[in-house]
Amino acid sequence: MKVLIVGSGGREHAIATSVAKSKRVSKIYCAPGNAGIGQIAECVAIGAMEFEKLVAFAKDTEIDLVIVGMDDPLVGGLVDELEKAGIKTFGPRKNAAILEGSKAFSKDLMKKYDIPTAAYETFDDADAALAYLETADFPIVLKADGLALGKGVLICNTLEEAKDGVKSIMLDKQFGTAGNRMVVEEFMTGREVSVLSYVDGKTIQTMTSAQDHKRAKDGDEGLNTGGMGTFSPSPFYTEEVDEFCKKYIYQKTVDAMAAEGREFKGIIFFGLMLTPKGPRVLEYNARFGDPEAQVVLPRMKNDIIDVMEACIDGTLDQIKVEFEDNAAVCVVLASDGYPVKYDKGFEITGLDKFEGSDDYFCFHAGTKLQDGKIVTNGGRVLGITAKGANLKEARANAYKATEWVDFANKYMRNDIGKAIFEAE
Ligand code: AMP
Ligand code: GLY
Repeated sequence: MKVLIVGSGGREHAIATSVAKSKRVSKIYCAPGNAGIGQIAECVAIGAMEFEKLVAFAKDTEIDLVIVGMDDPLVGGLVDELEKAGIKTFGPRKNAAILEGSKAFSKDLMKKYDIPTAAYETFDDADAALAYLETADFPIVLKADGLALGKGVLICNTLEEAKDGVKSIMLDKQFGTAGNRMVVEEFMTGREVSVLSYVDGKTIQTMTSAQDHKRAKDGDEGLNTGGMGTFSPSPFYTEEVDEFCKKYIYQKTVDAMAAEGREFKGIIFFGLMLTPKGPRVLEYNARFGDPEAQVVLPRMKNDIIDVMEACIDGTLDQIKVEFEDNAAVCVVLASDGYPVKYDKGFEITGLDKFEGSDDYFCFHAGTKLQDGKIVTNGGRVLGITAKGANLKEARANAYKATEWVDFANKYMRNDIGKAIFEAE
């Protein structure tokens, strides 16, 4: 069968790598893709938000399955458009992708169905938000309602900071229309865990857990980024935590969406915080995490096409999603200066060392082919993933492999997965 993947990051490279392993797949296309994806798929110069062109390409090329990797096209309704044209597509429809697309929606859903999360209020105008903050406890968390490249969350320690935050989100529109509404949320403490899951509308099967590192610098200093590295599984995601989440969070979320007439098919990403009072939902995403996919998918034993088709067909209860009994660590190699200002266009060397390996992966994020050479083309450039028998071994392997590749302004965190030593 012919598969089209929509997206261009490390997550899509990880998806494409899993799809390439499927015996059922004869040809992979990716729109728009990147230089790494181009080594296993044919990249098509169509942007992820060019819905008409994507539908036309999928029809003309007789694509059997489209996999939408990114949040923007999902929230914008790409799945609906492809389905209308009779094309089988993996991912939630627009009315379900709102689970990620609107924080106000997801908070209201959790409140209505009693799914544990932080207390909150929603505001449509800045004056009401400012009045509310006068009597609030600090720190407090401000969230732009809509998609904001993972940057629409402000943690404010004082009233002054919070007032500035309201101004930048709702008045100065720092995150564009995403800030037309705002959620003000109770500040929680605890360790964060990401749990991704396959959902077919009724049945949910969670994948192995992972932990991201969102800040740019070692010791969780610096600005928030798309993610600087991940490890999987999380030693903090214990059986007890899993039991709690199974009982109070996972199935309840799927059932709540169905009860609202918003049947969810695709990936639900649960961003959890393990608070002293128990696990709480920080956020939902409607897609694989990036770089969570880069440590979760290489450990999945199933044929990804079988699982995705089961989600579409509503037969996920007939499959058992299984993971290898090992660990993986992903260290992101970024352009120095990310996420603010950085140069690109530098040649990347050493990429051939990863070819053909089942234990070491070099997932491309911001790269492109230029005059026959692969050059840097973004803030996050590569995700170096390595497996190991356990987290310690995977971590050592991943850092060893970061030395194989080089480019002019290579930057990485040196403490990805360091938390695993605390767990012991
Ligand atoms: P989100 O985009 O909702 O995942 O938020 C980004 C990051 O902000 C999370 O990964 C947390 O580190 C932090 N965060 C979000 N909500 C809260 C909260 N209620 N309390 C504490 N930290 C939060
Ligand atoms: N790594 C966090 C995300 O994909 O949203």
